[in-house]
Amino acid sequence: MPNPLPPIPTGHLILGNFREFNSNAYQSMREWQKLHGDLIRFRMGPVTIYVVSHPELVEDILIQRPEQFIKMYLVDRPKGLALILGQGLITSTGALWKRQRKLIQPLFVKSRVTEYEGEIVAAGRNLVSHWRGFAPSTPVDIGAEMMRTTLEVITRTMFNISVLDQLDWLEPALQTALEFAADDMRNPLSLPRWLPTRKNREFRSAMQSIDQWVYGLIRERRDAAIPKDDLLDRLIRATDEETGLPMDDRQIRDEVLTIFTAGHETTALTLMWACYMLACHPVSADRLKTELDTVLGDREPTTDDLPRLAWTRAVLDETLRLYPPAAVMVRENVSETLLGGYRIPKGSMLIINLANIHRHPEFWEMPDSFQPERFLLEQFKPKHRLAFMPFGAGHRLCVGNAFALTESMLLLAMIAKHYRFETLPGESVEPELEVTLRPKGGMRLAVTRR
Ligand code: HEM
Repeated sequence: MPNPLPPIPTGHLILGNFREFNSNAYQSMREWQKLHGDLIRFRMGPVTIYVVSHPELVEDILIQRPEQFIKMYLVDRPKGLALILGQGLITSTGALWKRQRKLIQPLFVKSRVTEYEGEIVAAGRNLVSHWRGFAPSTPVDIGAEMMRTTLEVITRTMFNISVLDQLDWLEPALQTALEFAADDMRNPLSLPRWLPTRKNREFRSAMQSIDQWVYGLIRERRDAAIPKDDLLDRLIRATDEETGLPMDDRQIRDEVLTIFTAGHETTALTLMWACYMLACHPVSADRLKTELDTVLGDREPTTDDLPRLAWTRAVLDETLRLYPPAAVMVRENVSETLLGGYRIPKGSMLIINLANIHRHPEFWEMPDSFQPERFLLEQFKPKHRLAFMPFGAGHRLCVGNAFALTESMLLLAMIAKHYRFETLPGESVEPELEVTLRPKGGMRLAVTRR
């Protein structure tokens, strides 16, 4: 007897599970895991998608057999994020990926990240002083504030520019593009992109503005007399080891946009969810304030302080567990294979669901409750090394993880030392999966100076 296919939730005869997944992908995948287990399949009309929610299965996919389960971006038929990022580090594969990773990785090693401290603290200072004039309990759009701050950090550190004066058009254009990419990934039934629908037109126009801006940056830098030791210069000066040829502008554009996008939104979301957790858990917030006062006194944080900010780190880790910004990773199965005893047909799309794994009751006690103490070093030992994997695993591990953690620690320390947060009456905060795990409709919290 052939091995069985994974269990499938009941769905519509033709549409399958399209409606549930399309209206709330995050919640649907949580419920399917609870009802049907750690490896399930569901149907979006004619397309079947597999959801993996167990660390042992993820170990098999990302570490034991990465050549069996590959990133599913095709150069000639781009989907999802590849529509925006082309063939940058996230969406490329094979020799191109290897070459680009080797070129970009040195900018993100721990020793190099320490050098970005000045820019991170400067952006934090701007944020903290911007809020200083607010009356107690002022409702603040935390999402916008964190996005602006992390955008400033990534553009200053990687490209030596500021985008604060461009936010009016840049943020909406990015949002339009990311929503389009999420929709394209979620919905295999979407209309062809050449049709002049409103969504297609909006996407094209957003990408035109973004491209114009990025190509402008590349041009300016090529014309600049003085070289700068940043990502942009590194990309422009790089030559292929074999051919000796430089990268073309299209490839530079893809890498710039990749680091720009991946490098700010995820960190902004981490900080947003952390502020929300502190608003919901005032005892944890007070403990954080005490730690920051004790370690820092009246000064701003530096990277040397980070090893002594154990509670700050635990708050961030617990936030990343409950609300991992990159909540899902997608792979394609290159030939029919077995996974966890189930048969997975060739060419299937697999969603690795980190959010489900991070709340898996086999690996976490009281999985839905916010308990930073579980991450305090002397106690913490995950029951499986991939039970907590906010930055992924295997050779495609997040290249920016040391950068993201350093940035989040420094900024959270600056914010939580001076401000406390409260939820606003009548405003609920719900997670929604749109490429990343974001608060549906944004996040507003009441901010009060401590
Ligand atoms: C808290 C913040 C962040 C989280 C949670 C996060 C999460 C992740 C995850 C889960 C992956 C693996 C995706 C996969 O295997 O399919 C990834 C890849 C990646 N991340 Fe991050 N990331 C964060 C911050 C950053 C930052 C700050 C940068 C750049 C400055 C960055 C750049 C990248 C890149 C370029 C990749 C692709 C790496 C490759 O495939 O070689 N990320 N990230």
